Amino acid sequence: MSLIVIKIAADEPSDNVRIDSVLNSALRDFDYRVISSLDETDPAEIRGQRLLFALPLGKYGLNSAYFRLLYTLRTRQGLLEGCTSAILIDGDSELYTKSTGTELAFALNSAGSALIGRPLAEGTGSLHNFRIQAKLIGVDCRGAYLAAVRDLADRLQKDRLQKYEKPQLLALHASSHRTSNTLQLWEQISERLGGSFEIKEIGLRNGTISDCSGCPYTMCIHFGEKGRCFYGGLMQEEIWPAVLKANALVMLCPNYNDALSANLTAFINRLTGLFRQKRFYDKALFSIIVSGYSGGDIIARQVISALNMNKSFYLPPHFALLETANDPGEALRIPGIDEKLDNFAENIRRTLVQTA
Ligand SMILES: Cc1cc2nc3c(=O)[nH]c(=O)nc-3n(C[C@H](O)[C@H](O)[C@H](O)COP(=O)(O)O)c2cc1C
Repeated sequence: MSLIVIKIAADEPSDNVRIDSVLNSALRDFDYRVISSLDETDPAEIRGQRLLFALPLGKYGLNSAYFRLLYTLRTRQGLLEGCTSAILIDGDSELYTKSTGTELAFALNSAGSALIGRPLAEGTGSLHNFRIQAKLIGVDCRGAYLAAVRDLADRLQKDRLQKYEKPQLLALHASSHRTSNTLQLWEQISERLGGSFEIKEIGLRNGTISDCSGCPYTMCIHFGEKGRCFYGGLMQEEIWPAVLKANALVMLCPNYNDALSANLTAFINRLTGLFRQKRFYDKALFSIIVSGYSGGDIIARQVISALNMNKSFYLPPHFALLETANDPGEALRIPGIDEKLDNFAENIRRTLVQTA
């Protein structure tokens, strides 16, 4: 399948030089065409396509054409329905590439695009971010950068999420059933998914799992090969096997201080041992995110960054239901919530259930 590269121009022409040369070399053997803006293209030409967004950020992490792209994605709802995307970001400093990547990924997803697992290739100014990979494959940092972009384009061309007769969902939370708005929305979704899914729910409340102890890489590999982790416990006995069995993960995330709660973060960190053994490209990621006041997009970007970008889960279009509610029970009284719940449940069904 051919790719469409959306090459966003830099404000300073010199900031285009490295990213253009990386694209030319890395995509030499791919069938692709380049466009410079979504605005000048007929939406029918884009719909359902595989899109590689290529963005130069320069020294200060800024690009005015990128803001125009964000404007287009946020205002033209459904523009990317049926598309699958990946992202290349090239910077001239050590900052901003990842944070801009998560912002763009969330905007693409909200506009209807899926993102493949590990959808971001980023070149920081020094390319020092590639030093480990370069050593592993025996090339210099630029060689590792090219290899990463080739691998990204290859996966973008090929990756497809499988559907199932009766998909298995794993829902993870760390909240109280009695009071949590996030859990009440999940209960509604779970009811709507009814008999078409096999659903497992695990509560990771205080003390159930300790955070990662940051073992040396080789030690983590050593434990992981045996299906274990330094700390053992519930994580290796129940949660890793449940993740392996699941076709999709549903993260139930209340906004705690504009961040994921500590227990959910511990789960993601402790998943590292399993990730060393196994990629999760074939597992979809959904989330329900509830904030008392504001900031749901910050949590959505954290979930994308940690689980889609770092841990390789596939991001289906419109992966998250984002709501604002604070007092217990308030979420179920949000105007129009029933329709939103219907749509979110239908999105999960459409993503995962095989139709005859
Ligand atoms: C420790 C803690 C920190 C919170 N921080 C924020 C916050 O930074 N921003 C916000 O909008 N809501 C914040 N909230 C409110 C929750 O997001 C809110 O209660 C929401 O309903 C989700 O939580 P629930 O699923 O437990 O109901 C916080 C709640 C707690 C308990």
